[in-house]
Amino acid sequence: AKKAVLGPLVGAVDQGTSSTRFLVFNSKTAELLSHHQVEIKQEFPREGWVEQDPKEILQSVYECIEKTCEKLGQLNIDISNIKAIGVSNQRETTVVWDKLTGEPLYNAVVWLDLRTQSTVEKLSKRIPGNNNFVKSKTGLPLSTYFSAVKLRWLLDNVKKVQEAVEENRALFGTIDSWLIWSLTGGINGGVHCTDVTNASRTMLFNIHSLEWDKELCEFFGIPMEILPNVRSSSEIYGLMKISHSLKAGALEGVPISGCLGDQSAALVGQMCFQDGQAKNTYGTGCFLLCNTGHKCVFSEHGLLTTVAYKLGRDKPVYYALEGSVAIAGAVIRWLRDNLGIIKSSEEIEKLAKEVGTSYGCYFVPAFSGLYAPYWEPSARGIICGLTQFTNKCHIAFAALEAVCFQTREILDAMNRDCGIPLSHLQVDGGMTSNKILMQLQADILYIPVVKPSMPETTALGAAMAAGAAEGVGVWSLEPEDLSAVTMERFEPQINAEESEIRYSTWKKAVMKSIGWVT
Ligand code: G3P
Repeated sequence: AKKAVLGPLVGAVDQGTSSTRFLVFNSKTAELLSHHQVEIKQEFPREGWVEQDPKEILQSVYECIEKTCEKLGQLNIDISNIKAIGVSNQRETTVVWDKLTGEPLYNAVVWLDLRTQSTVEKLSKRIPGNNNFVKSKTGLPLSTYFSAVKLRWLLDNVKKVQEAVEENRALFGTIDSWLIWSLTGGINGGVHCTDVTNASRTMLFNIHSLEWDKELCEFFGIPMEILPNVRSSSEIYGLMKISHSLKAGALEGVPISGCLGDQSAALVGQMCFQDGQAKNTYGTGCFLLCNTGHKCVFSEHGLLTTVAYKLGRDKPVYYALEGSVAIAGAVIRWLRDNLGIIKSSEEIEKLAKEVGTSYGCYFVPAFSGLYAPYWEPSARGIICGLTQFTNKCHIAFAALEAVCFQTREILDAMNRDCGIPLSHLQVDGGMTSNKILMQLQADILYIPVVKPSMPETTALGAAMAAGAAEGVGVWSLEPEDLSAVTMERFEPQINAEESEIRYSTWKKAVMKSIGWVT
């Protein structure tokens, strides 16, 4: 039977820290037509180290594309209607591979990884000029979070990486670069590029000139020839070229024309195109970004300055202030995988609902130190306020509250930096389907929380960028193109005094988490 024809469709790869997805949207309504998701393994070879297998990540992308295409077929939707593909990805995670064999030369060093703490300490003692050297160029504090120090570690410690650099075979990239290079042909002409948003998370990129910064590369000892070309977030980088037997080959020849770090993609997907518009995404971590327009605003309260997006080669760049929280959804995964108190992540809601309170228990999940607004690598996770009455339901509730308190901390910092407090918070990401979490968030922020009916905003943003690219032109980025997305609102339901008491107890717990490692 002839398959039904829709308007132009756009696909998006969303490669996050916990899982990979491929999603296909109708560009006229933003309706999500089909998707597939695969969980990604994380390895913890030593205390504080976090690695992933770049080949498993790539394989998961192929698998998601293949399964999504199959599902579209079952819906009688012709996949030849897919006109473009966007890529959004976990940022900062660092891969070095061999351009002649296509083999990664080490596992991906994940953004959460802490192995570079001593490198950071050493480097911070020899910052040239004033202490602002790194921050003024990159918008970032010198931290284990960003790629430059991870790459430095690989160059110092992995023989295969050293040899490949010497023999001019090494390529460096964040996950977007690794995927785009592989999906556009790999060793057979793959395109080695990144976009301005991902580049801005490496600590090697000058966010004013929008180029790799020679002085920074010298400071970190990074050979510039292994860095990818930096492009805008919306332009044709190359065409899909899949050289193996998977059915994903059906997308052969489709342009890859959108690329954004996942938090920037969510900002686009939420249509936060105006100065002062903000969104908070709940993934493995939790990231609140506020669009500051064409201005680079530097925070006085522990936020980062980052590139928000640049939607076309000749289009202007937009910047954002960002509050980054390392552990959000990851705490639920930890309760599942390490403590085994839930079997699936969804069970957390049921457990928390049984008690409806943490009963004085506070959980600071500082597994990777504390990010914004503290930037405190010496912090480690703590659970406090326990009594013999405390049970797993209270701990589950405290874990959800922790996500909300951390958001409150970055929202407060954002309000102080911006001067005008946010009147409501736009949210998205997998965890927003948890209604208890959303209600708690409204109670703890004491402002309404607004979530889209379709939580896959990150993928939507990447699809929008891909569909809007010059030479593709199937997405106009106007609000009417999002007619399928409806909003749900959560209003604060407790009184302001109670909200403040809980928040100040949380802060006491945070102080206890700091200084565990020296
Ligand atoms: O900076 C890290 C961030 O991009 C990871 O995002 O969605 O995996 O929590 P996510």
